[in-house]
Amino acid sequence: MLSPLSRRRPPRNSIRRFIVEGQALARVFAGYKLISFLQRWRGEEWAEARRTKHHRWSARLLHDTAVRNQGLLIKTAQFLSSRPDILPDEYIEVLSHLQDEVPPEPFSVIRGEVERELEQPLEAVFREFSPEPVAAASLAQVHRAVLRDGRVVAVKVQYPGIEELVRTDLDNISRFVAVLNRIDKTLDFRFISEEMGRMIPKELDFINEGRNADAIAANFEGVQDVVVPEIYWEYTTRRVLTMEYVKGVKITDIEGMRRLGIDSAEVAKVLVVAFAEMLLEHGMFHADPHPGNLLVAPGPRLLLVDFGQVKEIGPQFRFVFAQMTRALMADDDTALGKTFRDLGFRMKQDSASGYEDLGRAYVGDISKQMLSSERGWVSPEMFQDSYRDVLRILRANPVIKVPPDLLFVGRVMGLLNGLSMTLHSETNLLVQMARLLDEKTAGRTPIAGTRRRLLEA
Ligand SMILES: Nc1ncnc2c1ncn2[C@@H]1O[C@H](COP(=O)(O)OP(=O)(O)O)[C@@H](O)[C@H]1O
Ligand SMILES: [Mg+2]
Repeated sequence: MLSPLSRRRPPRNSIRRFIVEGQALARVFAGYKLISFLQRWRGEEWAEARRTKHHRWSARLLHDTAVRNQGLLIKTAQFLSSRPDILPDEYIEVLSHLQDEVPPEPFSVIRGEVERELEQPLEAVFREFSPEPVAAASLAQVHRAVLRDGRVVAVKVQYPGIEELVRTDLDNISRFVAVLNRIDKTLDFRFISEEMGRMIPKELDFINEGRNADAIAANFEGVQDVVVPEIYWEYTTRRVLTMEYVKGVKITDIEGMRRLGIDSAEVAKVLVVAFAEMLLEHGMFHADPHPGNLLVAPGPRLLLVDFGQVKEIGPQFRFVFAQMTRALMADDDTALGKTFRDLGFRMKQDSASGYEDLGRAYVGDISKQMLSSERGWVSPEMFQDSYRDVLRILRANPVIKVPPDLLFVGRVMGLLNGLSMTLHSETNLLVQMARLLDEKTAGRTPIAGTRRRLLEA
């Protein structure tokens, strides 16, 4: 456990927030630079040992900075902590505490928020209400409670003042991205800050989250192994979400799963099949599957929570995405290059061979290696090779447009890859998507029969 930090008032001034974060990043970065510099004299062994120490020190600094500043830095840390496939273990260990163990608000504050939102005293709605939260994350904390009629519920309560913090952070991010772009025209990340500016404010509206949960639940109707908590609308407002309490262990809690007799590779299969269906079949997916938002119960059943980020993808995008899956399975570079252009990528020199090179470096080589490895995930080494190749290609022929939808699909695939590694998955997302497409072409619907076939294979 990390030393428990208590929740304090975060700095609200935009410049102060920026300075706190900038200083932390600069210290992390300078540390790595110094080690690389001294390596020439002190040797590789020394440098490796120092680097491991600096990983841990940096992770703690980022953790404490996130706890201090709150807001979007916690979200960033949650994402980083979900990528054991690209980040050193020291970061994963320390930052994963921010997935659901952020220092909470005291009960008195929470009571005030719930009563104001529901316009009733707590006791009028709930027979019991645990003063200690079950979890606390980036935007809200969740308490277990029992309604007057005996139903056990999870009550998600938004942190007071979080809306303003998030707005400040979004402004800072877009300013930072604009400055980067002015310094170097090839560093154009404005599409990322714009998309964040569209998505994140929606997460602060729990009516929207409740609707998302209902829509995903409807898509999985009749499916036993994917569970979405039922929303209790009569006790839900923009800032308080009351829903069915789901009981499970966190998806990265391998020991907890073992105690319950759950096989982690089976969990990975349910997870991967569920996401293949959401991406290709439903056209609507949970866009934030970090481990804090995924629980597991015997069966195994996958319990999805936190529908703040749900993304819809239109039929056109899904069609090209499906073609990309097929091109990857067939190891067809020409077709792959074409799907990159069809998805909406634009390179400075708009030639077929440019997209082919990009496609091969970005996903082609990775998927080829993954398909021949019998593992359901991409290793850190494979990513490193791909990263180097992509940089080389971009330097010669920069990408000038990235499809914004792909940002979320790519992020989800990254999160799933990290989880697949943790779960020792033998199930390959690409293969599952291809099989789903074959089933579709054969005119079968994925619920029931197809689903069973996908899971049994
Ligand atoms: N319906 C539920 N039943 C049980 N636990 C829940 C439920 N919903 C959320 N939780 C727990 O509360 C944590 C925070 O809730 P979440 O919706 O993820 O908040 P945030 O949007 O701030 O990330 C989750 O990581 C999970 O551990
Ligand atoms: Mg969450």
